[in-house]
Amino acid sequence: NLLNMEKDPVIVLVTGAAGQIGYALAPMIARGVMLGPDQPVILHMLDIEPSKEALEGVKMELIDAAFPLLKGVVATTDVVEACTGADIAVMVGGFRRKEGMERKNVMSKNVSIYKAQASALEEHAAANCKVLVVANPANTNALVLKEFAPSIPEKNITCLTRLDHNRALGQISEKLGVQVNDVKNVIIWGNHSSTQYPDVSHATVTTNSGEMSVSKLISNDQWLKTQFITTVQQRGAAIIKVRKLSSALSAASAACDHIRDWVLGTPQGTWTSMGVCSDGSYGIPAGLIYSFPVTCAKGEWSIVPGLKIDEFSRTKMDATANELMEEKSLAYSCLEE
Ligand code: LMR
Repeated sequence: NLLNMEKDPVIVLVTGAAGQIGYALAPMIARGVMLGPDQPVILHMLDIEPSKEALEGVKMELIDAAFPLLKGVVATTDVVEACTGADIAVMVGGFRRKEGMERKNVMSKNVSIYKAQASALEEHAAANCKVLVVANPANTNALVLKEFAPSIPEKNITCLTRLDHNRALGQISEKLGVQVNDVKNVIIWGNHSSTQYPDVSHATVTTNSGEMSVSKLISNDQWLKTQFITTVQQRGAAIIKVRKLSSALSAASAACDHIRDWVLGTPQGTWTSMGVCSDGSYGIPAGLIYSFPVTCAKGEWSIVPGLKIDEFSRTKMDATANELMEEKSLAYSCLEE
C-alpha cells in the first residue's frame, strides 16, 4: 500500500513567521524546498501579539494554497505551543535595530528574546532539534541560544551565512558570465556582518576543459581582493537601500538551502558555509559561533579540514573573529544587568 509508505511529517518551527522573511519562507517549506519533495511537514508559526492577526492571515493563505505536503499549520503567539515537538527550528524573529538606537540596546533586547526561546526549545522541542538562527545579530543570537539550551547538542545550533555564500556565488557567476551552478567552493568566514570574509581562494568553475580556479579565471586580483569582498559584505545594506526592506526571498531561499544540505547532505565534492560552534579549527576561538566551510552527511556538518590559509585571509579571518568576541562580551554584559 503506497499510502502507508508516506514518511512521517517533520515539525518545522518558524519564529517571526508573520514578517516578510516568514511570508517568503513558509510556502517554500510547504512545497518541499527545505526538506525534499517527498517529506510531509507540519508548520509551527510563532509571532508576537501585535502580529497575531497577520499571522492568522498567513495561515489562511497556506490553507488556500492546498500544498500536498503540508499536513498541519499551527499559528500561535505562545512560545511553548510553537516549540512543542519541533524537529527543525528556524529563528527569524528578533529585535531589529531602529534608527538612532545604541548597539547595546539592540543586543540587550535580542539577548532576552533568545534566552527565553532557548529555554522553550530546550523544554519542548524534539531532543535532536536542529536550530538555524536567521535574525541578526545571527551568530551572537545563536551563541546566546546555545548557552541557555545546554541540553540541545551544541552541533545542533547554527546560524545563517548561506545567504552570504550564495551572494558570493552570484557575484562570481555574474563577473565571469557563467552559470551559478558551475561555481563552487566559495567560503564565508566569520560573522554575518560587514566584517565577514568572503574567500574565493579555493573556489572553482566547471568549464568545458574541466575545473578551473576562480583566481586563475579572474585575472584582476584587485577586484577579487577589494570590490568583490565589499560587495558581498555590504549586500544586505544595498538591498535595504533600494527595497526599503531587508532581503527576504534570498534569505528564505538560503535558509532552505542551509537546512536541506544539513539534513540531506552536501553534494559530492562541494562544501557550503554555515555558522557553527568553533572547535578551534583554523585558530578560531573555540565556542564562538563562526562561519566555516562545511560538508554535511547523515544529518551532521563537519568543518572542511586542512585548507591553506594565506596571510591576506588570516588577517580577515581574525578581524571577523575579533568582532564576534566583542559581540560576545556585549551579550554577556547585557546578561549581567
Ligand atoms: C542581510 O544580509 O540581508 C541582512 O542581514 C541585512 C539586515 O541588516 O537585515
